[in-house]
Amino acid sequence: MDFEKIVPRRGTNCVKWDTLPEGVLPMWVADMDFETAPCVQEAVRKRAAHGVFGYTAVPDSYYKSVCDWFALRHGWRPDPSWIIYCPGIVPAISACVSAFTEPGDNVLIMSPVYNCFFSSIRNYRCNVQDVPLLSVMQDGVPHYEIDFDSLERAAADPRTKLMLICSPHNPAGRVWRRDELERVGRICLEHGVVPVSDEIHCEFTMPGVEFVPFASVCPEFEAACVTLNSPSKAFNIAGLQISNIIIASQELRTKVDKAVNVNEICDVNPFGVVALQAAYTDEGYEWLKALNARIAANYRHLQELVSEHLPEFPLYELQGTYLAWLDCRAVGLPSSEIEKSLVEEEKVRINCGSMYGTEGFVRINLACPPALLEDGLGRIVKGLRRLL
Ligand SMILES: Cc1ncc(COP(=O)(O)O)c(C=O)c1O
Repeated sequence: MDFEKIVPRRGTNCVKWDTLPEGVLPMWVADMDFETAPCVQEAVRKRAAHGVFGYTAVPDSYYKSVCDWFALRHGWRPDPSWIIYCPGIVPAISACVSAFTEPGDNVLIMSPVYNCFFSSIRNYRCNVQDVPLLSVMQDGVPHYEIDFDSLERAAADPRTKLMLICSPHNPAGRVWRRDELERVGRICLEHGVVPVSDEIHCEFTMPGVEFVPFASVCPEFEAACVTLNSPSKAFNIAGLQISNIIIASQELRTKVDKAVNVNEICDVNPFGVVALQAAYTDEGYEWLKALNARIAANYRHLQELVSEHLPEFPLYELQGTYLAWLDCRAVGLPSSEIEKSLVEEEKVRINCGSMYGTEGFVRINLACPPALLEDGLGRIVKGLRRLL
């Protein structure tokens, strides 16, 4: 478990590094600069040694790995028959939008939120029905809360068919409490809106914070919702393209299964299958605990830097994910300008908030070894002070 080791990634066809000019440090796309868990590396190496990589069948033991992991780690036991595997969460989101909507319908989201929510909705010619999160200041630290009154009004629109819930929430950093999920679920069920819970970040929680699967809130929610999950973020294996759509209701599952097949996203690759099974083990869990401790330390470091050097820039509370959300409205520039300026002058790349539907903010990826973090955050501090 070496989270201090710097693994050179340039020259590996890496989106995060190789798409940036030489010398620019990447603190953007949600991909970590850590090697995956040793047990996952070993499983992939063993599979690669076989030398034949034909079409892949998914064994019963795969489904057991998924169900046992969620039962043991998150207190929710899905049935193996509820699982539809596919190569990614974004294709899964698109399959859900296509399964449950017609062009012109509304899909509910709560911005700022993961950019592909917007594109999946628009690709199916549906309307993005945004109920922005409310920013609340508590003891000098901002965090987001759900605007339940507006959510209730939006869900009551007869054209609203689906809600995409990001849980934990990227980039707001919230891990929704059970009572919050309960209220969201009640609103959806009352108005016939299908809740789709994207739980890709579920393994990342700060000390003392508990992740609650939406489907575990009550049997009614389990029977009405779609859960999307993958070990890809937590184990840094996005390139292996493996994820799961979990649906208890046979009626909803049949619809999504059809969309998955129509969209031809029903095949996975041999490495994804063995990597998931190696990740969802006791060894994988021990590695994950150490990873979360590293991320918590990285976030504390950012907090210290912000309070010392960037007091004009409110840093949002991070309860989950490794993506920090910083309010840069003090500089009075569109966030895309801030992003551009930091790349050009300080040679560091962050994501601008406008990508997620909120102007004036930036998202900073903290999942890297301390030496890279120190360097990258130093550049960000310098750039933001320059722009102020
Ligand atoms: C909330 C959320 N969903 C989905 C994804 C991407 O999923 P995939 O790579 O499996 O398509 C991301 C990546 O950052 C994400 O933050």
